[in-house]
Amino acid sequence: MNNIFTRRSVRKFLPRAVEPEKIDRILRAAMQAPSATNQQPWEFLVVDDRQLIDRLSQFSQYSKLLLGAPLAVVALERTGLRARTFVPQDMGACVENLMLQAVEEGLGSVWMGVGGGERRRFINDMFSLPRTVEPFAVIAVGYPEEENANHFTDRYEEERVHFNKY
Ligand SMILES: Cc1cc2nc3c(=O)[nH]c(=O)nc-3n(C[C@H](O)[C@H](O)[C@H](O)COP(=O)(O)O)c2cc1C
Repeated sequence: MNNIFTRRSVRKFLPRAVEPEKIDRILRAAMQAPSATNQQPWEFLVVDDRQLIDRLSQFSQYSKLLLGAPLAVVALERTGLRARTFVPQDMGACVENLMLQAVEEGLGSVWMGVGGGERRRFINDMFSLPRTVEPFAVIAVGYPEEENANHFTDRYEEERVHFNKY
């Protein structure tokens, strides 16, 4: 799958809306992810309202790039699940799927981690989220400003691979 190799974090976007069918496909790809006990902890808050995206850009010191993004997807995790220790792994797989499908659609994206504390509280408060979900990540999505934004960089390091013994 070539998209795995060419996906890059894209932080500058054209002022062009993402078509609804592309949004639909990136969300479908996200929901195809594997999850522990198939618990599928994900929900998505899709934000295409300019004022809301601009406000969301303040959730962390590394999220200002949202000011130039036409779309933000807030990946939410459901709380109170049985296999909750695996939820971060499930959510990571889901966000990666979304980003790889974005490449397939000719789009660019970047993952912004939420973590706990202030960032989580900011998003909870901004969208008046119920206690049944927590924000996991915010993904900016759009048409890249640079033509070659998604491109291959080789990260293979042989010394990180251990066969049969460490
Ligand atoms: C959990 C996580 C949190 C990240 N948070 C941010 C962020 O807040 N702002 C940002 O611009 N990039 C963020 N990134 C993107 C990384 O900086 C990026 O993936 C890394 O530099 C590798 O570059 P690449 O995605 O182009 O391969 C995050 C990535 C991950 C996986």
